[in-house]
Amino acid sequence: MVVLGIETTCDETAAALVERHADGTGAILSNIVLSQIEEHAPFGGVVPEIAARAHVEALDQLIERALYDAAIPLEEIDAVAAAAGPGLIGGVIVGLTTAKAIALVLNKPLIAVNHLEAHALTARLTGVAPFPYCLFLASGGHTQIVAVLGVGNYVRLGTTLDDAIGEAFDKTAKMLGLPYPGGPQVEIQAEHGNSLRFKLPRPLARRDSADFSLSGLKTAVRLEAERIAPLSPQDVADLCASFQHAICDIVMDRLTMGLAYFLTHYGKPTALVAAGGVAANQSVRRALNIIALEAGAKLVVPPPHLCTDNGAMIAWAGAERLALGLIDDLGASPLARWPLDTVKHTPQPRSEPPR
Ligand code: KG4
Ligand code: ZN
Repeated sequence: MVVLGIETTCDETAAALVERHADGTGAILSNIVLSQIEEHAPFGGVVPEIAARAHVEALDQLIERALYDAAIPLEEIDAVAAAAGPGLIGGVIVGLTTAKAIALVLNKPLIAVNHLEAHALTARLTGVAPFPYCLFLASGGHTQIVAVLGVGNYVRLGTTLDDAIGEAFDKTAKMLGLPYPGGPQVEIQAEHGNSLRFKLPRPLARRDSADFSLSGLKTAVRLEAERIAPLSPQDVADLCASFQHAICDIVMDRLTMGLAYFLTHYGKPTALVAAGGVAANQSVRRALNIIALEAGAKLVVPPPHLCTDNGAMIAWAGAERLALGLIDDLGASPLARWPLDTVKHTPQPRSEPPR
């Protein structure tokens, strides 16, 4: 079956067509992502109103392009899926309403996908990842360790108590005068920096939980930057390298706890799966590799362009749900907040009572 997927929860407008075969494998037929980075860059971060307007302006053409690239007429899709949250509500409304209109006109099923669930299931589109597996989700808005036990069956083992990891990258970059979005910039700078020059904290190290805390690290970077100001290009590179080194240590420490917890409660995971924009970072990937090796688990990381927000992951999550008969009605609500562990094996709560 072929599913059209729509993603508009943050600053990427995306549409994709994905096919799910009877044996559970998938194929991406088209995947178009339009980044709004240039529109938000002057403000140093995502401006929700600008994002929502940009989604409205681009989405129709993007869907047309995705259909064209896949050489599939709109009438021939089997279902339409849209990210219904969590995210910036203006954008979510744009994507979900568009999907509802298509579903209504074509009389095809609608699937209101949780954006985090889509990140969680992407590994099953790009490779073999049988349940249960341990997910490390690290994006601009979320940092979570999740036991993925099945479609619609997620247990959050750990989360951030303050900033998300991507957010820490972005804020560190901003403090050091690097352009938005900061994550890739910090990674580039770190390549020629000394990661041992600054002694930065590793909050919650060896603490008996799988939770994260990043705000103390961010503050420590700021204090060091202020202490040695004005910053030379080498200072910036060294701060980036030291920050990234601390992030990798934190990820390894917290995942060690998360995987131990997983083992106790759910047995051996089939894999450690990484998702979200931060999983595109090569140093973080190396850290994940070490942790997976130590845990005796296979590391599965989708290619970088499928770790960051895209339409294929939404289409795929829609296809996985559709295969189980988990479809939503046209009353499905856009949700700014929608924790992954509240996504159940049932359709989303309805905004209107059933008639
Ligand atoms: O998953 P994503 O595309 O969007 C959200 O759902 O948030 O993740 C975006 C986040 C941003 O904070 C960005 O700075 C970070 O992922 N990011 C990176 C890298 N590429 C993207 N962080 C570190 N290194 C990277 N190479
Ligand atoms: Zn995301």
